This record gives sequence, C-alpha cells and structure tokens, in this order.
Amino acid sequence: MRFRVRPVARLHGEAEVPGDKSVSHRGALLGALAEGVSEVQGYLEAEDCLRTITAVQALGAEVTRKGPGHYRIAGGGLRGLSEPGDVIDCGNSGTTARLLAGVLATQPFWTMMTGDASLRRRPMGRIAEPLRAMGATIVGRADGTRLPLAVRGAAPTTAVRYATPVASAQVKSAILLAGLAAEAPVTVTEPAPSRDHSERMLRRFGARVLTEGTTVTLAPGPLRATSVIVPGDISSAAFLLVAGALVGEGRVALHRVGVNPTRTGALDVLAAMGVRIESTNLADEGEPTATLTVTSGPLTATTIGGALLIPRLIDEIPVLAVAAAAAPGVTVVRDAQELRVKESDRIAALGRELAKMGVAVEERPDGMAITGGRRLHGAAVSSGGDHRVAMALAVAGLIADGETLVDDVACVATSFPTFAETVNALAGAAAVTVEP
Ligand code: S3P
Repeated sequence: MRFRVRPVARLHGEAEVPGDKSVSHRGALLGALAEGVSEVQGYLEAEDCLRTITAVQALGAEVTRKGPGHYRIAGGGLRGLSEPGDVIDCGNSGTTARLLAGVLATQPFWTMMTGDASLRRRPMGRIAEPLRAMGATIVGRADGTRLPLAVRGAAPTTAVRYATPVASAQVKSAILLAGLAAEAPVTVTEPAPSRDHSERMLRRFGARVLTEGTTVTLAPGPLRATSVIVPGDISSAAFLLVAGALVGEGRVALHRVGVNPTRTGALDVLAAMGVRIESTNLADEGEPTATLTVTSGPLTATTIGGALLIPRLIDEIPVLAVAAAAAPGVTVVRDAQELRVKESDRIAALGRELAKMGVAVEERPDGMAITGGRRLHGAAVSSGGDHRVAMALAVAGLIADGETLVDDVACVATSFPTFAETVNALAGAAAVTVEP
C-alpha cells in the first residue's frame, strides 16, 4: 500500500485526532486488572491498541465494544486473569509488549508473547531485567532480551527500588504494574521524567502513587473499576500541526488534544521555530486537553536536545525533522539515540528518505543535523514499515514540488488509520490518496 501525495496550497479547518495511543493501552490493561466494570471512551481503534484489547481478552478479561471507541471491560482483580491458550501476538506494538510483561510478572502462569519483525528486533532486556529482579521468570531469544519471550509471574512480586538507565515510560510502567502485586512499595527512578499516563491512571483506579521529582513510588494493592476518557493523541496531532505550519495558507484547529506536559515538547520546539499555536478550551478529564490552532508562517532553525526535552517529544521527531527541512538554517537533534530502537531506526530512515526529497540530513549517533530552507522535491520514498516515518514523509510531500510516492504505508493503521482522510478534509482536495 502506498500514499500518492500532491502538494497543497491551503490547509484549513477543524479536526479531531484519534484517541491517545499511550492512554488507550493503559485503559485496557488497568480495566482488566481492576475489580468491577470499567468503561473506556475515546479508545484508539488502531492496530496497536487493538492488540492490547485482544491480549487482555486472551488472559480472560471480558471486553465488550459498546460503540466506536467505547469499551466496557470487566476485570476480575489482580488475581482474576488466567493462562492464555495461545501465544499473545503484540504485532508492532512496543507498549503492548512491555506493559503486558509487567502485568504478566504478577501472574502465576506461563504466557508466551511475540510480535512482528520490527517488534522482534526491539530491546526487551530493559523490562526483563527489572521484572526478573521482581521475581518473574522470563526466557526467550537473545538470552531473554528479544521477543518471542515467555513470562511466568511471581505472586507476590519482590519489592524493588529500581533506577532505570533510560527515561522510558514503558519501562517505568512495566515495573509499576508488576508492583501492584508486590509485597511492599516499589520505587522507580528515571534519569529524566517520561510520560506519566500510568501514574495518573493508576491513581484514578485507586492506587497510591507518589511522584517526587524523577522518582515514582507505588504502594501495592487492588484497583477499583472506573471510567476513562481518552484524549486526542498529541503525537497524531503533531503531523497536522506541522502540516498546518508549513502549507502556505494554513489554519488548522484540532479539538480535545491531550496536552499532558510530559508530552508537549513538540509544541515548545515549534514555538521556538516561530510557529504560532494557540491553546484554547482547556479542560481536564483525567488528562488535560485543549484545542490547538496552528497558523502557517516562516520557520527558523533550532536545536532539539537535552535529557528533559527529548522524552517529551521522542515520537514527534520524525515530523519535527520535516519542519526543520523547511526552516532556513541548521536544526540539530541530539540526545535522541532512543530513535534508533523505535519501530524502525528513525535516524537512519529520516536521513535516507528525506535526502531523496532534496533535504541535507547529516546522521549522527544520537540524532541528526538538518539543513533546511531549500525547496523539497517530490520523490519515491519508503516508510520502512514505520507509521510515524510514513506520515512525516507524507507531510513533506504536501510542501514538495511535484508528486511524492510514500511506499509501505499500511503501518499507518497502527496509530492513525484516518490520517489520509483527515488531511484531505483539511486540504479540501485529494492531497493524500491511498493506492494498493
Ligand atoms: C510510550 C512510551 C514511549 C513512546 C511510545 C509509547 C508509552 O516509549 O515512544 O510510543 O505509551 O509508554 P519509551 O517508553 O520506550 O520511551
């Protein structure tokens, strides 16, 4: 499947972006572990999050779809899950695999987990090591550091004080989930704060979670069912915000976007690049939300780096690289070596593919230097099977001369299945057409 992208002169209008991927996964997992019936609304019905639904069903949670994005999850409590009859396939979803491993670390039975070719390449030692320290048995490829992995949990788990070498919400969340059934409180310290959706949602489900700087402590105990409202995903919104900033006559308003401060680094960077984004209609439904309205205008180069900033925008770097390509001067991305172990090596993918469109990208071990300001030209490019690379290249195509063909785009269904139709509605034209 590929996108044929034509340049557009105008992007105008309003849109809602699909539900937040990170918050959706957590809603399904905590609903399955809670006592009673939880309702999740605004759930992201894209492949990654549907993997998590299928996984909790395989473990015995009863899930009913009540309408678009609306799920009722009947959990049986921390001890209510049962051994699945087959291997759990996490598809492309790192969050499913890593957070589920945390849940499985508390379950006294064997579960096998696998994933697609991309996920089977991604590092799992970062969760296997702390979960083993908590008493789980984890075996699998590469000494138990790559999927497929088999996990047998311990009940109770051992209370740990764990210092993670990487600022990763997936690692932190796996440990906190395993800590729900620990014999005493567990503590995770990160080198810098990562997204805090797990902490917020655990509190909503009645858990006692204390955050002090970069240290989170969770007291073990049962979860009680609740209702969860999932905000729009700022990581999906970012593609439309950058498109709105770059296309000549752009004015795009996106409603109910999650603006949790641990996720809004891209807004800070775009502001530093001179992009005007207004936040209005601020609300809080467990996660803060806002309407974000972007107006197009000239951009300037910037530096994107630092231990505090990078975790707040790690998933937005592919599209920020496109913004950098349009900003005269050199934009440097550094401290972002985690990009190399995402759905693909995003540093290599962006360097390789943006170069085909005439952008000078110098690859570095922990980022890249992008010389922006030259006109992009349409080209045949490929996502390499990475959803965020696919959408970033499509945004680049909107401002390039001539047509851009982005190959291998079925992966967009993992996080933003309505991407092409949303762009086309804002363009008032067939800017992104999907071809078999
Ligand atoms: C996520 C955390 C981030 C992010 C991923 C989703 C989460 O990964 O890149 O898309 O939902 O916890 P890391 O925890 O590996 O940084």
